[in-house]
This record gives sequence, structure tokens and C-alpha cells, in this order.
Amino acid sequence: MQLLTVIGARPQIIKAAAVSRAISNGYSDIVTENILHTGQHYDANMSQVFFDELGIPQPKYNLGVGSGRHGEQTAKMIAGIEEVLLSRTFDGIILYGDTNSTLAGAVAASKLHVPIFHVEAGLRSYNRMMPEEINRIVCDQLSTILFAPTQTAVDNLREEGFFTEHPTLHRRVINCGDVMYDNSLHFAKVAAERCDIMERLALQPEGYILATIHRDNNTDDPQRLEQILRALVDIARNENVPITLPLHPRTRNKLTPQHHQLISGEPRLRLLEPLSFLEMTLMEQNARMVMTDSGGVQKEAFFFERPCIIMRPETEWVEIVEHKAGIIADADYQRIVDAYAKLEQCNVSFPPLFGDGHAAEKIIQNILS
Ligand code: UD1
Repeated sequence: MQLLTVIGARPQIIKAAAVSRAISNGYSDIVTENILHTGQHYDANMSQVFFDELGIPQPKYNLGVGSGRHGEQTAKMIAGIEEVLLSRTFDGIILYGDTNSTLAGAVAASKLHVPIFHVEAGLRSYNRMMPEEINRIVCDQLSTILFAPTQTAVDNLREEGFFTEHPTLHRRVINCGDVMYDNSLHFAKVAAERCDIMERLALQPEGYILATIHRDNNTDDPQRLEQILRALVDIARNENVPITLPLHPRTRNKLTPQHHQLISGEPRLRLLEPLSFLEMTLMEQNARMVMTDSGGVQKEAFFFERPCIIMRPETEWVEIVEHKAGIIADADYQRIVDAYAKLEQCNVSFPPLFGDGHAAEKIIQNILS
């Protein structure tokens, strides 16, 4: 079986590692994985470092698309993926998550009748202002097998009519668990053995907060970004706790002189370059709390039993909030500060909601069957 795996943005490279590992551990005699990198993320610390660390095969195809407006970026990817799909016979295409690379893969493959396997299907924020929500909806509609990571994702698809008996509209929906959970279990030990980031930053276990900000509605609105940064500065100062903030290049580009002035007033808030996956894994495992607008980081906080402040108006990972392991605070100064105080006080529980750590194997078995 010849499969084309499309990746492009940082979290997809990480998710793909789980499936690549499952293929090479048990199926390499019957499945050949051909990796295509769209080039959506191109800085070394947003892309190459993940290949180096996670043991993913180097991409066979690289489109080098780079940044751009959504339509422009996605269109270039569709053209490039189509060309690769036409160059030989593929039995299916694997797409991850909700980025423009996912959308482009779905559009190109569906027009050429190549079966689409969508990993992380069925997630919904029900906020169509998010580009990722549009990408998810389109990719799910065009997919052949939808690999949902949670029961909530399955229920979302049921509500949208994916379980119809209609002969051509019927699709297979499988709750396989979350490939990110597979990865966190696999790489947690490796990170502890190989990384010295805690020593380099002079951080103590449970003695710091890990924060990330990259969503466009936070980075591209100076007032929202200011509210978040002000909350981080005040928590660091008033609680006397170091906060580390590895910065996505998009966020760094959007910092104004006023933002810089705010940050420079509080040395306990430290800005870093983007971290590698192993470094991030270690930092998440040891953090006292996580503050983020990332879907993936929210979940990893949960896997490592760390409470989390979600700096978005809503989340796709509603079970984290339902179990009170995370609080939605949006980009609202007061809500962020209040959420910190609340999470410091309560006892949070972390039941197993994201599968059994074997999602990637189930994905390959189902594709083969
Ligand atoms: C994308 C995904 C998002 C995912 C995120 C993970 C879409 C619509 N969004 O958002 O779902 O959570 O990746 O990181 O696909 N940039 C660089 N170097 C890089 C990459 C990006 O400088 O290697 C900067 C550029 O200024 C670029 C901006 O970041 O214009 C935004 O990059 P883009 O790929 O459009 O979206 P992300 O914010 O990374």
C-alpha cells in the first residue's frame, strides 16, 4: 500500500511521528509511507528540529510554499499536492488536524478520488471566525475514514449527519484515541533522559508556569495580546513565579514597542525561541501550570496532569473544561488572573479521556482493513 502523508505546520509533524513509528514498528513490509511537506512552516525551529528529534523519515516531496494570505497559501499547496498525486498511484492520503495544509490535501485528493484518512477528525470549536474551524469542516466532509480522537468528536460528527445510511454519503468514523497521547507517553521518558532545558533555564519542578500564544485572533489584535501579556506580567510579579513563554515567530513579529516595554518591566516573564518537541514535553511535565491558546498544548498539559488556563473564547477539547482541569479565560486580563487563583486552589482530576496510547496502530489497522 502506498500512502501519501501531508504535513506542513509544526503540530502535524509531531502527530505524524506516531503513525510513522507504528508503520516502521509493524507494517513496513506492507505499507510505504511517502511524506510530503508543504513548507507552511519553514523556520528550522518550527520544522526541521522535529524531524531530527522524532525519528520521522525525511519528506520525499517538499513544496516550499511558505507564508502568505490564506487563499494564496492554500492554492499553492493544492496545486503542488495535485501534481504529486498525479505523478504515481497512491492508495490513500493521510491528513492531520486543521491547518491550511490539511485543507489543501483534502481538496486535491478528493478531486482525484484518492481516499482520505483524516486524523483528528470531528473536532469543533463552533467558531467559524477561526481559520482552523473552516479547515476541519471541509476536510471532514471530504474524508473517507474519519479518525476521531475522543467520544465528543464522534458525537459532533453524528450531529452533523456523518452516520447516515445513505450509500454515497456514509463515511466510516472511528474513535481511535489521540495520537498526541501516544506521543506524550512515548517521548516523556526520552525527554527526561536527553534534555537539559530545566537546568539551562534554572527552573525547578513545579516552580514555574509554561505559556504559549500563537492564535491569529490573539497575535493580530494588539489589545488582546496586551491583555494576555499584562496578565502574565502581573501573575509573575504578584505570585513571584517565573513564567516561560516560547514564542511562535508570528507572535514575535506582532510585538509592538508597548508590548516590549510591558514585558521588559518584569524579569520573571522570560521570552524564549520556539522549543523542540522534547524540550516542550519536559517543560510541560514539570510546569506548575500551563497557560495557552494552543489546542495541542492544552491536551499535553492534561496528559501530564497539569492544570491549564485556556486563553481563547472556547475550546474544541471541551472534556478538559468539563473535568475542571482547564478554565477558559479568553484574552481577558481579569479572567486570566482569576483562573490562576482558582486553579491554584482546587484539586483537579485527570481521567483517561484520550485513548490508550495505541491510536496510531489502530489507524494503520483500519486503513489496511
Ligand atoms: C498554523 C495553523 C494552526 C496551527 C499552527 C501551529 C493554519 C490556518 N493555522 O498557524 O492551526 O495551530 O500553525 O503552529 O494553518 N512564521 C514564520 N516561520 C515559520 C512559520 C510561520 O515566521 O516557520 C510566521 C510568518 O510570519 C507567517 C505566520 O507565522 O506569516 C503565520 O504562519 P501560518 O503558517 O500562516 O499560521 P500559524 O500561525 O503558524
